[in-house]
Amino acid sequence: MTLAYLNGEFKPLAEASINVLDRGFTFGDGVYEVIPVFNRTIFRLEEHMRRLENSLQAIFMENPYSIENWVSIFEHLIDSVEHAEQSIYLQVTRGVSVRDHDISLAETPTIFVMSRPIEKKDLSAGIHAITHEDIRWQYCDIKAITLLPSVLLRHKAKQQGAKEAILIRDGFVTEGAASNVFICKNNEIFTPPKNKHVLPGITRDLLLEILDDKKVGCYESVISEQQLWEADELWVTSSTWEVVPVIQLDNKPVGSGEPGPLWHATNQIYQEFKSSYCH
Ligand SMILES: Cc1ncc(COP(=O)(O)O)c(C=O)c1O
Repeated sequence: MTLAYLNGEFKPLAEASINVLDRGFTFGDGVYEVIPVFNRTIFRLEEHMRRLENSLQAIFMENPYSIENWVSIFEHLIDSVEHAEQSIYLQVTRGVSVRDHDISLAETPTIFVMSRPIEKKDLSAGIHAITHEDIRWQYCDIKAITLLPSVLLRHKAKQQGAKEAILIRDGFVTEGAASNVFICKNNEIFTPPKNKHVLPGITRDLLLEILDDKKVGCYESVISEQQLWEADELWVTSSTWEVVPVIQLDNKPVGSGEPGPLWHATNQIYQEFKSSYCH
């Protein structure tokens, strides 16, 4: 039985239900986090909690819980799942109100958390991606539950036999539909700088940190569509996918058409960091 946390109570996921007037349901008025658990250890907890705080602040909400409250909820849910590798999903919406845009009408946030096993698909052979215009809104740095554009983009990728869509805004790469983007050129690694059009990915930031520690050249820099096409390697990152090589873009091989040497080296650095953090 999968357990969920909803507004102060733990209950079977199948029995967790909310009011249809919840603003998460009527307006997509809320934010979320996905936090990986490796070897039963919550990975990069502080970073995820900081991003949650920023997302809440950006939508004029207060964090309903202290970090200790959150952690005790997470631990209870993690303990209820057999698998050592899990992903915690948490969502905070503005709560129930009459269907009116005015946010002051909602009094009590709705807080939902669950933890599920990470279905580890081995993506180390590389994935295919498409390119697509970035059709999302202007506040992509907020981890908002309003994800229709990303759902449509992933669907378009799937229709073309691919797993991810690499997004282009005004001629420059922003990120993937649900991942951040890295390219390699002449033994250097680049990822777009953080701004309103990019989610500050926890995995992205971690890669920059650990590559810097190992003195591997990895830089925040704008990436034009042209540079994307000329890249020797292309990777996408996320908490549950980790670091994944993209070997075909719009049905054309990226570089050699196989996961490249910098991906192998970076993935090893990432996996070593993960093992030492979650031993
Ligand atoms: C739009 C978007 N960008 C980037 C990411 C990667 O972020 P993280 O590494 O924190 O999982 C995600 C994760 O779901 C995402 O939805």
